[in-house]
Amino acid sequence: MRRHRIAVIPGDGIGREVTPAALEVLEAAGRAHGFELETTEHPWGCDYFVEHHRMMPPDALDTLSTTDAIFLGAVGRPDVPDHISLWGLLIPIRRTFRQYVNLRPVRLWPGIPSPLKDVTPEQVDMVIIRENNEGEYSEIGGRLHQGTDDELAVQEAIFTRRGTDRIIEYACQLAATRSGRICSATKSNGIIHTMPFWDERFAHATARHPELKAEQVLIDALAAMVVLDPGRFDVIVGSNLFGDILSDLAAAVAGSIGIAPSGNLNPERECPSMFEPVHGSAPDIAGQGIANPIGAIWSGAQMLEHLGEAEAAAAVLDAIERMLADDGPRTRDLGGTATTAEVASALAGSFRIA
Ligand SMILES: NC(=O)c1ccc[n+]([C@@H]2O[C@H](COP(=O)([O-])OP(=O)(O)OC[C@H]3O[C@@H](n4cnc5c(N)ncnc54)[C@H](O)[C@@H]3O)[C@@H](O)[C@H]2O)c1
Repeated sequence: MRRHRIAVIPGDGIGREVTPAALEVLEAAGRAHGFELETTEHPWGCDYFVEHHRMMPPDALDTLSTTDAIFLGAVGRPDVPDHISLWGLLIPIRRTFRQYVNLRPVRLWPGIPSPLKDVTPEQVDMVIIRENNEGEYSEIGGRLHQGTDDELAVQEAIFTRRGTDRIIEYACQLAATRSGRICSATKSNGIIHTMPFWDERFAHATARHPELKAEQVLIDALAAMVVLDPGRFDVIVGSNLFGDILSDLAAAVAGSIGIAPSGNLNPERECPSMFEPVHGSAPDIAGQGIANPIGAIWSGAQMLEHLGEAEAAAAVLDAIERMLADDGPRTRDLGGTATTAEVASALAGSFRIA
């Protein structure tokens, strides 16, 4: 029996509902495919912060460093400022473990209506590669003269050659395994230092991949195009901020943010990678048992693939596809009435039959 050691951080809000639901499905897949997930749950997040004044204990990163992967729900609570939850847990994990690729696949599953008219599943099948370690999300900057009329805030964006090249190269290599189309999200008309640099590095990387059909599009126009003509896109690579916004937009085009997955990858595998749904803790629906667990389950499938369990990962995606196409249970965000637990148990059940 193969074993994989997984650190589980359910976090806050619906993170605590979708995480156990996803684990039920992943464990069922493990039983059917000959492996076991050895999970250790960590009660870190905003509740932990309220009690301990920090989002996770001082040795948390050491604890996580010995695992094969990290499986996260979501963090965020209305009475804890979002920059505390983000910078106290998510960002330290992503940066310490050099998880510089944020891989966000977007698909319109058969059986799910897109809010866009006349869009078919064949037209919405893309991967957004978001730079995950630098860019606009930087600690460099500050505030002066707070509370006065002279108040000011400065925020520096950081784009290094190493960081920019490695994310674009990752996206190029991925595009080469798919349709060969790659699009870079830019804003070099308005942001005059970092974005022309980004464009230069994109041109440099794609020149070494003549097999690719490369284009770069200004992020504002790109946002409109993803809505008006999603079929045009396959692999899109963007900075930390652009990739973040674009992946929520693309997830909405694919029917719901509740189904969108993400992997925070350290491609060199020197450190554990982390897998989490794109959505947040959704305080508006937390505690009701109606959150869609598919984003977490799909993220779990990404984790299985990363752990070398490609067959099981494909089987989880197959089970999701069949359930949705066959009019199986779906949660309220997809127009259904099923609970989180009902969706998970339908998917886990498909492995028991197999
Ligand atoms: N990675 C993370 O942990 C992460 C990501 C985004 C936001 N957040 C945090 O989450 C909190 C809430 O943020 P937000 O409201 O901007 O984003 P959100 O993703 O939590 O919710 C946005 C909307 O989508 C709905 N939604 C989200 N996930 C759903 C699901 N699985 N099923 C059904 N509906 C779903 C919510 O009900 C809400 O109406 C904030 O504290 C924010 O900082 C955390």
